[in-house]
Amino acid sequence: MPTAEPEPAPNTITFDGEPIPARPGQTVGAALTEAGIRSWRETRKNGRPRGLFCGIGVCYDCLLTINGQSNQRACLAPAEDGTSCESGSGEEGLRDGGTDE
Ligand code: FES
Repeated sequence: MPTAEPEPAPNTITFDGEPIPARPGQTVGAALTEAGIRSWRETRKNGRPRGLFCGIGVCYDCLLTINGQSNQRACLAPAEDGTSCESGSGEEGLRDGGTDE
């Protein structure tokens, strides 16, 4: 009989050193959102929180550092077991845009 509870996520990524469960096929952005993390960087000018916005790789709001590589889009990066994520885009400013107000 089907249940309403999803099975536990078998993979683990880290976000600022904290373990986050991840499901096969999930993106980093989806795993963070499922874990209740809604923002992972702030805008340069006004310090406003940014996380997922478009969710399809267009807006660049979701930039963070993944496995030591700065300016990675969380909405496109696969949440593979052992992936290490750090808040902030990882560099001063944005490389390719974003809604940086
Ligand atoms: S949420 Fe827009 S590029 Fe990732």
